[in-house]
Amino acid sequence: MSEFATAMRTDLCGTLRASDVGRTVTVCGWVGRRREHGEHLAFLDLRDYSGIIQCVVDGSVDVRSEYVVRVTGTLRNRPEGTTNSDLATGEVELGDCEVEILNVAEPPPFPLNDRVETDEIVRLKYRYVDLRRERMQRNLRVRAAVNKALRGAMERQGFTEVETPMLWTPTPEGAREFVVPSRLQHGSFYVLPQSPQIAKQLLMVGGTDRYYQIARCLRDEDLRADRQFEFMQLDIEASFVSQDDVLGFVSEAVLDAAELVTGERPDPIPHITWEEAQERYGSDKPDLRFGLELAELTPVFVTTEFNAFKAGCIKGIRVPGAAGDFGRNKLDGLTDRAKALGAKGLVWLKVTDDGLDSPVAKFLSDDEVAGLRTTLEAEAGDLLLIVADDDRHLVRTVLGTLRNDLARPPVSQGPYRYAWITEFPLFEGLDDAGNPVSAHHPFTMPHPDDLEKLESEPLSVRSQSYDLVLNGWELGSGSIRIHRSDIQARMFAALGISEEEAAGRFGFLLNAFKYGAPPHGGFAVGLDRLVAILAGEDNIREVIAYPKTQSGLDPLTDAPKPVGDRILADLGIRTLPPQAKG
Ligand code: AMO
Ligand code: AMP
Repeated sequence: MSEFATAMRTDLCGTLRASDVGRTVTVCGWVGRRREHGEHLAFLDLRDYSGIIQCVVDGSVDVRSEYVVRVTGTLRNRPEGTTNSDLATGEVELGDCEVEILNVAEPPPFPLNDRVETDEIVRLKYRYVDLRRERMQRNLRVRAAVNKALRGAMERQGFTEVETPMLWTPTPEGAREFVVPSRLQHGSFYVLPQSPQIAKQLLMVGGTDRYYQIARCLRDEDLRADRQFEFMQLDIEASFVSQDDVLGFVSEAVLDAAELVTGERPDPIPHITWEEAQERYGSDKPDLRFGLELAELTPVFVTTEFNAFKAGCIKGIRVPGAAGDFGRNKLDGLTDRAKALGAKGLVWLKVTDDGLDSPVAKFLSDDEVAGLRTTLEAEAGDLLLIVADDDRHLVRTVLGTLRNDLARPPVSQGPYRYAWITEFPLFEGLDDAGNPVSAHHPFTMPHPDDLEKLESEPLSVRSQSYDLVLNGWELGSGSIRIHRSDIQARMFAALGISEEEAAGRFGFLLNAFKYGAPPHGGFAVGLDRLVAILAGEDNIREVIAYPKTQSGLDPLTDAPKPVGDRILADLGIRTLPPQAKG
């Protein structure tokens, strides 16, 4: 008897091994493949979440695919030459089986075979059938394991789990909110929380010290491979901490989870400043699995005669050995891509044994060619790509994007390369009114060394905020928060938010901070993203039991749907006719 024995079974299908030979066992599950050998012998593959066992029935049985059955038989070795090394149970089979039908089933809407690609809408419409597949069962279990490891790590580090409300009030975090009408206060609305950000900061004022929650978050955003309306965060906040304390707590949890799933503890996570990430990878989510780093070429061309390179910033990447792979069409494609990203052009050069092969080679001096080759460590056969512009950020972004286009493997493909990105800028640019826009949220503490520039040079102020990146995906982000109302007032002023507006939007938070807010900071890990990568999936839908489609629909339930007039009346709502889809 196994630990999974119940009143109806003694064992799970996928756990039977040669060491069980001779035992009489009872297993339950769904009928997979069936083969009849005349009227005297039938083979059934019986499947439960743990795997498949081959059952041999003397005589014929009247079962079809996906019937739910209970089979009792005696475990024996498969005859010589019939073992199946693809199957964990491939050396054994259940002989002399008696089959009891527990339930009949319609033919499945698609083959339950991990090798067959089925249309996503069909999979989601019949998600309960889709979930029977080995891959999906494995993903659900990876998810549960990650949850368990994260919880364990937070508990061990002295964090207390606290649940925060789902019916909340609008928060300042930018993304769109799902709105819930109030039945008792017609015309007023709750919103579903985009994250427990304010609630967790208030827990710090409330003396909780170390809070965590595996929190459901809701954002009405456009959906992508790494985005759903509903997603989960490992959300944490802690008092009397530095940035390094927070990074330590999160690293511990994430590395524990990775170790539990993969059996191997990743190396300590390197720290890279935002500025360095932009300089070397042209991205704030650098994928460290491959090279093609951006090299600084500005000094090489200070006295250049080549017009395109008379610019404030010149950077390039070397694509090793790629010269032969890039014909005219592909090079034109790269140039168009660079221009679509905002570059004025793209210079390409192929390194040959005799020098450089490029339409612009004739404009470059010998010193420039030598400087270029040394700086990029170029060798014959390499392809060099160069962008020049006065806007350094543009140069970095264009080359960073080309770098990913040229060499980035699917996100889930190993090895796993984590990175902490620190010292994000406090603001990410100016809005239409000329006011700086928060890069994270308005409660993020400026870097102490930059505080005096908050008013004079806001765009050069660094913040105490940080992201965790894995294989080019943003896994999570967080910051040390502003806990002093004088700094918060300066922050709102810098953002162009008046005192009245601040009081209206975040009044309850600002008020709370008058009653003794401790220094605090925190973080949120996007759980779906972490699980997807650890499970070897490139889309978070594959690790969510009931996800929405790209267009936000649920083919299983047909949500969203209209509701009846009585319900609307109760809520004090009248709807407009649906807008024609453009
Ligand atoms: P942020 O908005 O960066 O920070 O979110 C943290 C992490 O949550 C994940 N995430 C998502 N995952 C799936 N679908 C989505 N639509 C989605 N949106 C975000 C990402 C992201 O890195 N309260 C702050 C954290 C803090 O400062 O403590 C916050 O929510 O992995
Ligand atoms: P032009 O002088 O505009 O004909 O450009 C000559 C070559 O330089 C073309 O291959 C352009 O794509 C490239 N080029 C022009 N401007 C830039 C720039 N700012 N950065 C990189 N390449 C450029």
